[in-house]
Amino acid sequence: MITIGILKESDIDRRVSLLPSEVEHFTKQAEFTVYFERGLGEGIGISDQEYALAGGIAASKEQIYLKSNVVVSIHHQFQNEPTNSKIKLVGIFNLLFHQNRLESYSKNSDLSVYSLDLIPRSTLAQSMDVLSSMASLAGYKAVMTAASEFKGVLPMFTTAAGTIRPATVLVLGAGVAGLQAIATAKRMGAVVKAFDVRRSAAEEVKSLGANFIEVPGFTESETSGGYAVEQSEEYKQKQKELVSQQVALADIVICTANIPGKKAPRLIDLDTVEKMKKGSCIIDMAAEQGGNCELSPLHGKIDYQGITIIAHSHLASEVPLAASKLLSNNYKSFLNHLFKHESNPDQILTSTNVIANGEINHDSFRQLLEKV
Ligand code: NAI
Repeated sequence: MITIGILKESDIDRRVSLLPSEVEHFTKQAEFTVYFERGLGEGIGISDQEYALAGGIAASKEQIYLKSNVVVSIHHQFQNEPTNSKIKLVGIFNLLFHQNRLESYSKNSDLSVYSLDLIPRSTLAQSMDVLSSMASLAGYKAVMTAASEFKGVLPMFTTAAGTIRPATVLVLGAGVAGLQAIATAKRMGAVVKAFDVRRSAAEEVKSLGANFIEVPGFTESETSGGYAVEQSEEYKQKQKELVSQQVALADIVICTANIPGKKAPRLIDLDTVEKMKKGSCIIDMAAEQGGNCELSPLHGKIDYQGITIIAHSHLASEVPLAASKLLSNNYKSFLNHLFKHESNPDQILTSTNVIANGEINHDSFRQLLEKV
């Protein structure tokens, strides 16, 4: 018998990791029991009764830790609550940026931890790729947030009282979030420009009808799994100058540039912000990794001389219903995979299993703790 426990997130995040439909997928099978924390879906209008109808059993957080073999959540929650047996925690724990969590997990020999932000970018793992699901929604929400913050309008308006030119939206980083931001801003009628260090991004940007800003001399790696790698100082200087010119011309700048496991590249400094037009707006989605804009706080909104800067690295949580639908499918796929392969772990499990029975089970994290 496998017992799955689903934890409720804190009040600031209304998303859930498993919806009733995915709970039912497990409870229909005789070997599963599913506990859910009371009030789990209340932030998105799903009652405890709906979870109970799907076969779930309502419980408190403490009971969940005591009764479950596998405890799922989105964010880190474990505070060394008592457990009855060895448990597996499954969530999006971002341990590269939260070493304190890593240290606390590795002190408990009853604990194994699977962190879904480490899912490899392979075809087999696509249905479990929480980062792509959330990045796509976040890209959309970034443009919606910017549109309501910006003091102008995105599309062109031709009226008897005159013509308003379309806004210029600049997207920095054309990965999953950036491409969705480009598509959303295009649909809303803006003039869209984008920039990325990866050569393959140029074609994708152009295919969405946006202009790609070319900076010559970039480095790309065949072995980086589709991600960007750190660039030379000369490249960074050229890039800084070009980006600075384009930022000054933009009404909205959406920052999504990231390098996995590293600080986010700094693309907009104070001087560049000072050249921006009053009433324009920056949305920095890389804030948690240090920010693409020098002025970005870790989270929240500031006004700098009439320019609004919003730092938010979890914008998908602002569309919690859609985000829960995608996450719930990602978690279901991962759990199915875990139960099927845990006795003979494949790449998906070895990439995500950071802690096994209180021991660090992952080379990158072992090296990280050795450096401390
Ligand atoms: P990410 O969130 O790590 O980075 C976002 C973007 O920032 C990337 O496109 C990156 O090239 C760009 N960037 C990094 N440094 C920059 C700089 N200095 N200036 C401008 N841009 C910079 O990456 P994300 O969005 O998660 O994925 C990147 C790519 O990985 C995707 O476009 C896709 O090609 C690939 N991918 C493959 C998947 C699969 O095979 N299952 C799933 C998801 C993505």
